[in-house]
Parts: sequence; C-alpha cells; structure tokens
Amino acid sequence: MNRIYLDNAATTPLDPHVLQQMLPYLTDHYGNPSSIYATGRDARKAVEEARRAVANAINCTAAEIFFTSGGTESDNWAIKGLASANAHKGKHIISTAIEHHAVLHPLEDLERQGFTVTYVPVDEHGLVSLRDIEKAIQADTILIIVIAANNEIGTIQPIADIGRIAKENSIAFHTDAVQAIGAIPVDVRDWRVDTLSLSAHKFHGPKGVGALYVRKGTRLPAFIQGGAQERNRRAGTENVPGIVGLGAAITKAVTKLEENAKKISALRDDLIQSILKNVPEVRLNGHPTLRLPNNVNFAVRYVEGEALLLRLDLLGIAASSGSACTSGSLDPSHVLLAIGLPHEIAHGSLRLTLSSLTTQEEIDTVKEELPLIISNLRAMSPLYEQGEHYVF
Ligand SMILES: Cc1ncc(COP(=O)(O)O)c(C=O)c1O
Repeated sequence: MNRIYLDNAATTPLDPHVLQQMLPYLTDHYGNPSSIYATGRDARKAVEEARRAVANAINCTAAEIFFTSGGTESDNWAIKGLASANAHKGKHIISTAIEHHAVLHPLEDLERQGFTVTYVPVDEHGLVSLRDIEKAIQADTILIIVIAANNEIGTIQPIADIGRIAKENSIAFHTDAVQAIGAIPVDVRDWRVDTLSLSAHKFHGPKGVGALYVRKGTRLPAFIQGGAQERNRRAGTENVPGIVGLGAAITKAVTKLEENAKKISALRDDLIQSILKNVPEVRLNGHPTLRLPNNVNFAVRYVEGEALLLRLDLLGIAASSGSACTSGSLDPSHVLLAIGLPHEIAHGSLRLTLSSLTTQEEIDTVKEELPLIISNLRAMSPLYEQGEHYVF
C-alpha cells in the first residue's frame, strides 16, 4: 500500500539532504562545542554557521538567535521570561483564543501567579481584529502574544500591524511562527516582534530542536539554568547535529519558499474545491485566502473526526482531526470552538496538511476516497438520517 502523508502540520519527514549535513556531527565531529581542541572547535563552527543561517532566514543578526529544544520551549521561555522581566510595569497580558497549547498553558500558569490575560476573540475565519487588540490594551499591559499562522485552521494573522500597535504602546510582543516558517515570508524587523519561536521539524528538519529570536536589547532572563551555553541564556550542551539540521532545513525552506508555496497551494485549492463540490454539508474551516499554503481543514457534519481518521488510515492516508480524542480528551479543539463551530460539528473536523513532497496523484486519491468514506459513515449514522440537512 502506498502511504500518503497529509499531516505535515504535526511534523514533516526529514529531508535527506538535511540528514547528510547532520551525519558528520553524529559521528566524526562529536566534540563538545565548548571544548577548545579541534573536534570541539569543529562543532562550535557548525553551531555558529547554523545560527547565521537561521538569522538570515528571518532577517536578524546571529546574536539574536538562541537555540532551544523546539517550539514548546521557545514559547515557554519567551512568555514566562517577558512576563517576569516586565512584571514591575504591570501584570496584564493580551493573547488570542486560538493559540497553541505551548502558549496557552504557560499563560494559565502565569494567571495562577497573579497575571491577568485578555484572550481576544477571532472571527468565523479565525482572524484577530486589530481593533480588538487595541481595545484590550490597559495601562498595565506588558505583553502581547499572537500566533503568526494557526496550526489547525491555517489562518495567517496581520503580525506586522499588531507589531506596530505593540511598539506604539511600548508593549513587548511575542509571536509563535512555528507553522509560518517556510510557508510565508517571515521578517522579524518588518513584523516588529521582540521574540519569535520556530521549530525545525515543521520544515523537514529534525525533531527536538528549535530557536527563539530575541530582539537585541530585550530583557529576557534564562529559562533553563546551568552552564554558560548560548551566552548564559540557555544552559545545556548544544544539540549539535540537531542545530546543524535546523540551519540546513531553514535555508532550504526559505530559498524554496515561493516555488513550494505556489505548488502546494495549487494542490490545496484543488482538494478544497473538489471536496466542497462533491460532498454535501462540508464547511471549510479557516480563512478562504489568508491561509497557509498547505492547510486544508473541513467540518464534516454527521461524522466523527476519529472515525474518518481510522478509515483514512486503513487506506494508508495519514491525517488529523480537530477533536482531541487521540490525546485522551473528548473535548473538541478550542480553535474550532473559537471560530464558532458548535461542539458536535467541531467533533467532525478533518485536517489535511500538505508539503512540497505531496503529489497530484496523492491528492487525486484523497479526492476519490474521501467522499466515499464520508457517505459510508453517514449511511451508518442514525443522526444523519434523522437530522436536519442544510448547506453550510
Ligand atoms: C503553532 C505551534 N506552536 C508550537 C508547537 C510546538 O513545537 P514543538 O513540537 O517543536 O515543541 C507546534 C507544534 O505542534 C505548533 O504547531
């Protein structure tokens, strides 16, 4: 069975070229970058080269890049660090209803410590309003956090405009760009962010490595404490092969961004149009145009997302659902609820996320199989027989 991988928002396969760059640092160049002898120096040189590669990719200086264990650590560090560094000025934070859990859970922790958070709503397409952000600003607001592009529904936020508002009001600004890198142009100067998270495994790099951009002059205490690595700001012996992989992957992702985005979005639109045309009572979640080139997300009425995933899996198709059943909870995704989907419809969501490796043939297979699976599942559903039918 040919496997079709359409869960690239969860993770992407490692690019063989990236692996080749990493291998010497798992074998011959095993030195600790802090050591002064030759093999240590080799490792140091590779880490600094990767730092320059990441800096070039997002338009900052190498000194503003700090390597971490991935998106989750970068978000935790930025949020908790910026909150504590600015707590003397105030304890109010603004964020959105559609952040990743790597943002929401640290924020909940801060709320338990006495910070207050205003979660601005989003519209039915998942878009934040600049007016709502401006309205939420108080005299004691110290931090704004907005996800650059949503991992579930792919909606892209007006980060540069939010950055301008943050700067005009002297408020620190963090964005989670984990899904944005390699998909849309990311320029930290243009966006006017103080901190930005990214993660290698979302753009064909290795898992367990990422970076935090920290604008020069930003006060941000160390989050992981220990040795003097990363200029005393992130302790722990560097993940040298991972960092090398991150550098190689981001360079390729950014160089090929336009070409890939064009190809992937054409496949995405083909899939979206075909499903909307051929399957009744399906709605596209997320913004019709301001969306990641690789993101398809449907609400499928009268069908359980889990059941859809299992049927697709039997055919070798890997996808994901907005309901969090797989993680042991029956709650539907907070993102789908935030765009106004009722619980029962949010449970029937399906996310298909493409990559530059996705082929037209694979999309054609999904176009053929998905309507059959959905009508099959609906045929077994008493709710579908009894329910009211309407066009979304
Ligand atoms: C938007 C977003 N933020 C943060 C993360 C966490 O990144 P990592 O898996 O590198 O910890 C993810 C990955 O699922 C994500 O999609």
